[in-house]
Amino acid sequence: MKARVILALSFLLILGINVSASDDRRKRWWDWPSSSKAGNSICSSVVLPLYGNVYPQGFYYAQINIGHPPRPYFVDPDTGSDLTWLQCDAPCVHCTQAPHPYYRPNNDLVPCKDPLCASLHAGDHRCDDPGQCDYEVEYADGGSSLGVLINDVSLVNLTTGVRITPRVTIGCGYDQIPGPSYQPLDGVLGLGKGKTGIVSQLHSQGLIRNVVGHCFSSRGGGFLFFGDDVYDPLRIVSTPMSRDYRKHYSPGYGEVIYGGKQTGLKNLLVIFDSGSSFTYLSSQAYEGLLYLVTKELSGKPIKEALDDKTLPFCWKGRKPFRSIKDVSKYFKPLALRFSSGWRSKTQFEIPLEGYLLISSRGNVCLGILNGTEVGLQNFNIIGDISMQDKMVIYDNEKQTIGWTTANCDRPPKLDTRAFD
Ligand SMILES: *[C@@H]1O[C@H](CO)[C@@H](O)[C@H](O)[C@H]1NC(C)=O
Ligand SMILES: *[C@@H]1O[C@H](CO)[C@@H](O)[C@H](O)[C@H]1NC(C)=O
Repeated sequence: MKARVILALSFLLILGINVSASDDRRKRWWDWPSSSKAGNSICSSVVLPLYGNVYPQGFYYAQINIGHPPRPYFVDPDTGSDLTWLQCDAPCVHCTQAPHPYYRPNNDLVPCKDPLCASLHAGDHRCDDPGQCDYEVEYADGGSSLGVLINDVSLVNLTTGVRITPRVTIGCGYDQIPGPSYQPLDGVLGLGKGKTGIVSQLHSQGLIRNVVGHCFSSRGGGFLFFGDDVYDPLRIVSTPMSRDYRKHYSPGYGEVIYGGKQTGLKNLLVIFDSGSSFTYLSSQAYEGLLYLVTKELSGKPIKEALDDKTLPFCWKGRKPFRSIKDVSKYFKPLALRFSSGWRSKTQFEIPLEGYLLISSRGNVCLGILNGTEVGLQNFNIIGDISMQDKMVIYDNEKQTIGWTTANCDRPPKLDTRAFD
């Protein structure tokens, strides 16, 4: 019951890429590598529908089409990591159950000297075999993938109606260790800002602007987009990406606002991470928030439901709750406030739906978890639950993170830009 709900996959954090580990798990490919560049200069966007939900499924996923002929794969869109990889029949040493047959790699190996390989291995870049680029990614939940980089083609529909097949570099993952929040998917879609991120790859081929965004619907599904002609920039609230912390999409330090009031819970280093289903606060802030929430509940006809293990904290009322509306008199909205320039502040609003969920047993559970407990150290993560029904935009050219309330149920109509 607990397994799927607790952590979503894949916030690739502090751990980074670990290349030195496990030489014995590596494979050798003897085929000759080759590389080429697609020379296209259309400027447009790509919109991909999303499937899944925060609860009960525990994750969102998108379909990508890779190979020649193209085959479909379901992948976890992860703004917390840079590498796209698929479970790969290389053959596979350890693969997990997947919705599609494992990816069959071609012979187009990425050589060790390739800049994408070097960027993955920042720091200690050793080439044991110049003909291939081994990788290993470890995620904050303890899951990992080990494999080799491959060049292949991806079938992509541009919003202009043009269909293209750009060359992309992806990981052929032949040895996966699932984390506790294991998801039955074909792989991960790396949306981070590194060179290997899928968005910077498409951008470097002149296909799109270096912008990625997502819109998770609280009713399930939503959409993901690359490029910048999908939203109206005038409706976006935005804040600069942190200069102190460049590795992930971070607006820097934030402060928790509860019920419109300052809480003193501040100087929290925040990261936006679509690879995490829930939101995490580091231990002190988490305890501070728990204190505020439980204080608010005292004397009300609602008490902790110790037998509900959906999430660490659940509460039951006199009757089972059917929707968040039923608990609106017991909880207050949250917000995170960031400094977005000289004396200006930007606020990321988190309504009740952004941090609470109704469990299958009709209790209300807190969708904010203790980050210190799962090894996130001082990082605070805004996960999918808090980004629902918002368009969140990571603009790597302007170096900003922006958001706006949106109806994520309908993919954007590009001509009308009709968003609420
Ligand atoms: C591209 O668009 C066509 C027509 O709308 C659709 O049938 C197809 O599934 C789309 N392909 C991809 C890769 O999204
Ligand atoms: C949060 O996690 C830390 C580290 O495991 C632990 O010491 C602390 O008691 C936890 N706080 C709560 C309220 O669970």
